[in-house]
Amino acid sequence: MIPTLEWLPEGVNFLDQTKLPFEETYVLATDYKQVARVIKDMIVRGAMAIGVSAAMGVALGIDRSNATTLPALTAEVDVICRTLAETRPTAVNLFWGIAQVRDLYNQLAARNTPIPEIKQAVVTLARRLYDEDIANLRKLGAFGAALLPQQGTVLTHCNAGALAACGYGSALGVIRAAIEQGKQIDVFADETRPFNQGTRLTAWELVKDNIPTTLICDNMAGYFMSKGRISAVIVGADRIAANGDAANKIGTYSLSILAKEHGIPFYVAAPFNTIDLATVSGDLIPIEQRSAREVTHVGGIQVTPNGVAIQNPAFDVTPARYITAIVTERGILRSPYPESIRAMAGSPLQPEPVPA
Ligand code: MRU
Repeated sequence: MIPTLEWLPEGVNFLDQTKLPFEETYVLATDYKQVARVIKDMIVRGAMAIGVSAAMGVALGIDRSNATTLPALTAEVDVICRTLAETRPTAVNLFWGIAQVRDLYNQLAARNTPIPEIKQAVVTLARRLYDEDIANLRKLGAFGAALLPQQGTVLTHCNAGALAACGYGSALGVIRAAIEQGKQIDVFADETRPFNQGTRLTAWELVKDNIPTTLICDNMAGYFMSKGRISAVIVGADRIAANGDAANKIGTYSLSILAKEHGIPFYVAAPFNTIDLATVSGDLIPIEQRSAREVTHVGGIQVTPNGVAIQNPAFDVTPARYITAIVTERGILRSPYPESIRAMAGSPLQPEPVPA
């Protein structure tokens, strides 16, 4: 399995995704500030990986604190959570991960639990979230695999794979599960300018797993759809509003319209903690604006004339009306999304589908 991140006695170890596919090197974060830097610089990226990294960052901050009283530790926890929350704004999983550890801390502190016990409990929780992420994505994959044809080509955008999570992946998890079930699936991966997650990361992890993969430039998707080469589109999500609108990597919105025009199913695969019940619609999702340099430079070389204005929104929002289904570890959501999401939020887990 691809080791995206790992809790070690020395700190949290991250596969440096900015160096892929050329180097498999690791960055060890020994305090919470370094975890925040790793998230901000996209050494770790992808909603699920960001969520668990943030949880581990809070746990690391608490574990390494020198505070000797609960009020002093609580003041530090405030700073730790704020620092991590300021790294990236769009993926709701970041705030989910912080809240998981913060809530446990609050409960234990309210009961005057001794600090060493609190430290042990928050570290145990962060490590459990890591295991649960992988287990949830395997369940999600099993649900999603049932939607894919026995044989076909699936187009994906960005990287919603093992690298975007603690393992297995969401959109790529569905593809992996379908292949494990004996389906003959090959993948078209968009390069995903400007950060090239498709070129560098999706192509890397799929080739490593021997999954047949073709890399295309972002502007080629319509051509291949019009030629009947794409059976389904499947992408991940960074935040899904309560009405089903889904924020994902910039370019996802255009793909959804192309898919609709060509009558191709468009699936979003995301664990249930990506659904933000507090955000009623997609236009309220904060969109991260990233550095102009990501657009002006390719591989460290400037490809633009000086003086040209640059825009670099990192995400866009796909309206729910273009989404055929949302695949989660609890089951499959379909339109009308406000109702199906609300029902699933209050429902117990559905049994997993039996592979065909
Ligand atoms: O900017 P990134 O690389 O963190 O963006 C990642 C994506 O947009 C993924 O598609 C998304 O997080 C879903 S997979 C967890």
